[in-house]
Amino acid sequence: MSALIDNLLWYSIVSNFRQNCLSRIGEGVDSSIEAARRSLRAGQIVAFTGAGISAESRVPTFRGADGLWRNYSPESLATAEAFTSDPHLVWEWYDWLRGLIHAAQPNPGHLALTELQRRNPKGFTLVTQNIDGLHERAGSHDVVKLHGDIWRLRCTTCGREERNEQVPMDHLPPLCRCGGIQRPAIVWFGEMLPEAEWERAVEAARQANVLIAVGTSALVYPAAGLVKVARQSGALVVIVNPDPTPADDLAEWILRGPAGEILPRLL
Ligand code: OAD
Repeated sequence: MSALIDNLLWYSIVSNFRQNCLSRIGEGVDSSIEAARRSLRAGQIVAFTGAGISAESRVPTFRGADGLWRNYSPESLATAEAFTSDPHLVWEWYDWLRGLIHAAQPNPGHLALTELQRRNPKGFTLVTQNIDGLHERAGSHDVVKLHGDIWRLRCTTCGREERNEQVPMDHLPPLCRCGGIQRPAIVWFGEMLPEAEWERAVEAARQANVLIAVGTSALVYPAAGLVKVARQSGALVVIVNPDPTPADDLAEWILRGPAGEILPRLL
């Protein structure tokens, strides 16, 4: 089943699962981290990440005070309509973003997830909404990329995809060998998620004993729905985020703080 990306606020309907442990670094967080850490020893783990895991690599998040969507409108940059009407403008923005990501390095949060996968390769699935490629640069593999990859281009005429790591790009908009205009191979608002990736993510969430949601506002669907899929299938949900999210009601453990500090402590 494919799924349409939509920017809906999620008002959680789960109200009676309130064993949350709200913790802050330096305020008795140790016991919650220890409990969450013990849970990560069990069975199948899914790590579900969003832009917040790359914040400490200085890649801006999308929402929040310094978020990209505060200064730029998603409608004018992250839709197929915007691209059709002005591919050069859209590409200027993505070329800028690629430069910023290129200069960034994976942080201890990315590295901690790589280490979790190394310790338990068969029992670990990394599902990300991020397009930045920092998980792979940290050494993670088989990453399920729900929103595509900013380092891949897709021809709007023949559909051919290719990897392109040129920073900055020498020609905007970039052209395919067939002469067609290439676009970033990412999912824009109003577009379908890649079917195989979405199915893999849902299956992993259904099988999970623990789902750890890191650095996501849990506002963008269908990706955000994975937390509920996992919870309803019996998984224990752990959230790592300095701020509240609509998914908090589903969590057993809410670890308030930056991913780069919390995740290494979970190992
Ligand atoms: P958002 O920008 O919506 O949310 C980022 C989350 O990261 C917020 O909940 C922050 O509180 C949290 N955060 C900030 N700093 C953090 C840190 N150091 N450690 C942990 N968490 C931190 O990003 P996403 O949820 O990923 O779509 O957004 C979902 C999608 O919306 C993105 O994939 C993107 C965007 O439009 C596409 O690119 C298609």
